[in-house]
Amino acid sequence: MNAPQEFDQHKETYRSDIDNAVAFSGQSHDFFTRVKAEYLVDMFKDFQAKSADPSKPLRVLDIGCGHGHIHPYLVDSGVALKLSAIDVAATVVDEAKAMNPTVDYKSYEGERLPYDDQSFDIAYTIAVMHHVPPAQWPAFLDEMRRVVRPGGMIAIFEHNPINPLTQWIVRTCPIDENAVLLWNRRLSALVAQSNMVDVTSKYILFTPLDGPAYRKFDKMIGWLPLGAQYYVSARRP
Ligand SMILES: C[S@@+](CC[C@H](N)C(=O)[O-])C[C@H]1O[C@@H](n2cnc3c(N)ncnc32)[C@H](O)[C@@H]1O
Repeated sequence: MNAPQEFDQHKETYRSDIDNAVAFSGQSHDFFTRVKAEYLVDMFKDFQAKSADPSKPLRVLDIGCGHGHIHPYLVDSGVALKLSAIDVAATVVDEAKAMNPTVDYKSYEGERLPYDDQSFDIAYTIAVMHHVPPAQWPAFLDEMRRVVRPGGMIAIFEHNPINPLTQWIVRTCPIDENAVLLWNRRLSALVAQSNMVDVTSKYILFTPLDGPAYRKFDKMIGWLPLGAQYYVSARRP
């Protein structure tokens, strides 16, 4: 799997590297993080509304959490959740821990997640799989599946290789030097092969413009394969 040191080496410049790469859009890394948090919070709310006991906190795992920049948006979203997060870069995880004391952080070697089977209701991963060698993609997804309970969900957020601006960002961002982008169709097929059901996907971030109207617009055209990113979600039967 990915050498854990790779992101430890980028820890000082991670946010500024991404800010520089996306600067032409007029937005910062934080904008893109916040938008993805909105999609996740919607997912959590839907999931909780359908659960047998909606008052029970959702057990959520973030795989490849990095510095946990998204965690404040999730923790403060009003959804009752117990958030756990893990990454291969141990020093990055230490920084995340210091920033988000209510999140349960761990680091690991990148293969077997150190959690029991069926420990979570939802496991998600953002901008991680393109750093995992392609031969390891099925094993990575099998691990996501293993740690969610039957009826639980997984969600994978990835860069959309069709989008030329995304390609440009990946080419110019130092942390993406070894990235191998995944196409939605390939990722969706891999998720189905890992015995998940109800595999669906949505393109996101069609515009870097901020505000509720633009977000509503994004959600209306989520079928159009032009967004800067996309996510694939699925349920464990
Ligand atoms: C581009 S960063 C994304 C961080 C965070 N998810 C975000 O969106 O800000 C990719 C992260 O994936 C982590 N990573 C790479 N391979 C991994 C693996 N096999 N398991 C867990 N994390 C991994 C890296 O250490 C890095 O922190």
